Amino acid sequence: MCGIVGAVAERNITPILLEGLKRLEYRGYDSAGVAVYTNDDKLERMRRPGKVSELELALTEEPLLGRLGIAHTRWATHGAPCERNAHPHFSGDLAVVHNGIIENHEALRDQLKALGYVFTSDTDTEVIAHLLNHKLKDLTDLTVALKATVKELHGAYGLAVISANQPDRLVAARSGSPLVIGLGMGENFLASDQLALRQVTDRFMYLEEGDIAEIRRDSVQIWDVNGQSVERESVQYRDGAEAADKGEFRHFMLKEIHEQPAVVQRTLEGRLSQNQVLVQAFGPQAAELFAKVRNVQIVACGTSYHAGMVARYWLEELAGIPCQVEVASEFRYRKVVVQPDTLFVTISQSGETADTLAALRNAKELGFLASLAICNVGISSLVRESDLTLLTQAGREIGVASTKAFTTQLVGLLLLTLSLGQVRGTLADGVEATLVEELRRLPARLGEALAMDSTVEKIAELFAEKNHTLFLGRGAQFPVAMEGALKLKEISYIHAEAYPAGELKHGPLALVDNDMPVVTVAPNNELLEKLKSNLQEVRARGGELIVFADEKAGMTNGEGTHVVHMPHIHDILSPILYTIPLQLLSYYVAVLKGTDVDQPRNLAKSVTVE
Ligand code: F6R
Repeated sequence: MCGIVGAVAERNITPILLEGLKRLEYRGYDSAGVAVYTNDDKLERMRRPGKVSELELALTEEPLLGRLGIAHTRWATHGAPCERNAHPHFSGDLAVVHNGIIENHEALRDQLKALGYVFTSDTDTEVIAHLLNHKLKDLTDLTVALKATVKELHGAYGLAVISANQPDRLVAARSGSPLVIGLGMGENFLASDQLALRQVTDRFMYLEEGDIAEIRRDSVQIWDVNGQSVERESVQYRDGAEAADKGEFRHFMLKEIHEQPAVVQRTLEGRLSQNQVLVQAFGPQAAELFAKVRNVQIVACGTSYHAGMVARYWLEELAGIPCQVEVASEFRYRKVVVQPDTLFVTISQSGETADTLAALRNAKELGFLASLAICNVGISSLVRESDLTLLTQAGREIGVASTKAFTTQLVGLLLLTLSLGQVRGTLADGVEATLVEELRRLPARLGEALAMDSTVEKIAELFAEKNHTLFLGRGAQFPVAMEGALKLKEISYIHAEAYPAGELKHGPLALVDNDMPVVTVAPNNELLEKLKSNLQEVRARGGELIVFADEKAGMTNGEGTHVVHMPHIHDILSPILYTIPLQLLSYYVAVLKGTDVDQPRNLAKSVTVE
């Protein structure tokens, strides 16, 4: 999704801005631009639809050199992805970049047009540039004018502004879209994500909701939502673990799929005793709070939502706790009846997903017992605003399609299930010790599943010419099937639907013919025989079956049936294991189709707008 980079320095900042944009590329975008206050005292910009490399090429041909600048990668919301809609947007001697959505942009646009402003783009952002320009006429100071401007904006924004009239500073505002200041020696920076600035600094200051910042070469001043001058803590990062290279792999997605044994291992580290989960892994007050929990409400989006759906099976089956799971974009706008003593759980890779964050903020008003975030980014808004946290240790996920984040979320959710059951005394005898042992073995099992890489690559050939696919699963494998279908559609653009296998004959069976491959996951559990009957229904209609089946499930290849044997695993952990071949399948289908695997069309990594 959109990215912001800004810099005020004594040196030429254009290469810093470009490098920052490249580091944000993985989040998904469709145009890029930069505005620089040049060494000959002019405000100039370069914008290009497409990749940052197009912008870089344009800047090689016509360099912009200066010591103050802002840059942006845009993921189109208002107006097509083309040069005139790309940021920065200008109004007089001002340049503005913006992440988020201004909801009252139409009303503001009408007012500004009536004042004589001429719009050159279809974006909501241009409204901010003109409004600020208008405010500056009376208020003269850029920072003061920005404070007045944001009071009239409804919606979400992370904003960075420069002015040719006041070239000593970069000003910024945050509401609903993250911004971080990078602190240098005699130079300072701004970005929507600290990753964009890791090449220039390791010291950061995170803006909070409602903050306005004035960033000069040698000072940073911040005002909070009430206009009070405030200090924000600065954080120093020393780890070099942010490396973003593909190593021996052709794509980040394949690398991240193969990292799963290691990151699952890391997510378990320090969280298990000999035969129990360490409840304090969720925070010092976790044991006390967990003892009170009588219900769980999970809220998340996309892949993280699928993780929540798996957790519902675990929480009810193992810990005996009623659990509801809902996509955040629905939950946040619904009248919700909260049962007493309900733990509100959010799941998110990025911790910045706008809908999930908004749901958490709403939940605080609704009388939940406490909030818990299962998240991969320790410095994210979701983590900072939740009472309890479990950080997954997936490391940086660059492929837009989530893979290792999902399996580590599942591990986190199983730890949560066992912790709640342990504290509340609702686990059956011996279950916790057995599952702790199984969790210890999980990285090795995942390694065995990954060894099937070339088998799955061969199976992928069956899909290259297909336009539709069905994914089936029963029980906790149903969300796994949903996740498999999501991965396939995201990166190969093949239409894929997931159904609980028992639902087949209530409608979707009508779609099945020899042009519709049907993918299913079949662990050896009490639903296996029922699943086998469902698969017969598919075969009888000519549907080609691809079955990932437990080696002990007694399933074999036959005409129109391709069986891939999976290592045996405890049924509770099977959703984690069976996710692996589905990730590999979608990856290899996408490679065969020649799509942009790591940055699929129209998608963004961190969805910071509604
Ligand atoms: C799919 C995918 C998305 C995200 C969703 C939530 O591969 O990555 O569906 O899972 O946008 O993102 P987070 O987990 O960052 O809240």
